[in-house]
Amino acid sequence: MLILGIESSCDETAAAVVRNGTELLSNVIASQVKAHEPYGGVVPEIASRKHIEAIIPVIIQSLEDAKISISDLDGIAVTKGPGLVGSLLIGLSTAKAIAFASGLPLVGVNHLEGHIAAIFLTANPPEFPFVALVVSGGHTAIYVARGFRDFTLLGQTRDDAAGEAFDKAANLLGIGYPGGVAIERMASGGDPRAYAFPRAMQNSLDFSFSGLKTSLLTKIKSMERRPSSQEIRDLAASYQEAICDVLTEKTIRAAHHVSAKRIVICGGVAANNRLRELMNQRAASDGIMVFIPPAVLCTDNAAMIAVVGTHMLQAGIQDDLSLNALSRIPLSGENR
Ligand code: KG4
Ligand code: ZN
Repeated sequence: MLILGIESSCDETAAAVVRNGTELLSNVIASQVKAHEPYGGVVPEIASRKHIEAIIPVIIQSLEDAKISISDLDGIAVTKGPGLVGSLLIGLSTAKAIAFASGLPLVGVNHLEGHIAAIFLTANPPEFPFVALVVSGGHTAIYVARGFRDFTLLGQTRDDAAGEAFDKAANLLGIGYPGGVAIERMASGGDPRAYAFPRAMQNSLDFSFSGLKTSLLTKIKSMERRPSSQEIRDLAASYQEAICDVLTEKTIRAAHHVSAKRIVICGGVAANNRLRELMNQRAASDGIMVFIPPAVLCTDNAAMIAVVGTHMLQAGIQDDLSLNALSRIPLSGENR
């Protein structure tokens, strides 16, 4: 089964071709980072315009890289949400137009399920059930996954997402955009024990990161001059440690809670090497296996959307041309 995936929920325009839900034939991602960099965050209006420019060339490139044409495909999977509605609509309208013109079946995919499904593109994917930590710029949540389309929420952020916490900190420290990558780069030369940052909501599987950001702001303000480059490195390392510590602790606790022996970490923040290291260390001592996609499949891509689409189409789930974009859709429950 050959499926074309299309993803445009935020600031990446992506298309990919996946065979049988496991084999990546192409994975094209057009990043808009340069366009949003001057603003220190994604500007929805700019994102929509950039998606319009990129979507057709990106899809053509994905077919060329996979050495196939539209007539070889068995279906089209497109992100329907959650995300920026203006951005989602570009991918959706394009997917609908291709489906209408070619007669191929179309299916709308939940972006969060896509992030989790990226793990099935790796050589040794986990069996169900597993606990999934979804950590991105817009989401931070822990689920237990018992099968495709079978997720139960165990905990989620009450305020900022972990990726947002990275992005805001990088802004405060003036070290660049996107924040997660900038903080990780700075942290590599810093001392993670140099500054004390709070670990919020320790007795819950829910997260809160807004206090952490305030704590960083207070520390910067209390310094008499601009922090030196070593102080910036130490702040970045200590801040990164606080986020990774909390994400690791709660995910492992959640795994014990549902007696899961496998953990999957996904979403943009799963590209962070300190998070990978901490999760691997602590899980190993508890006899839990950790599965993390390579960085290129952690951040937004269309291959993960094609994987979910494959399973949905195989299960007979299909959408018609009334399929619409949704800014918020839960992963567990009925309206997913
Ligand atoms: O999954 P993603 O590409 O887009 C969303 O669905 O949000 O995640 C983007 C987020 C951004 O907040 C970015 O700062 C963060 O992932 N991120 C990282 C790293 N690479 C990307 N955070 C920490 N360390 C990284 N290496
Ligand atoms: Zn994402």
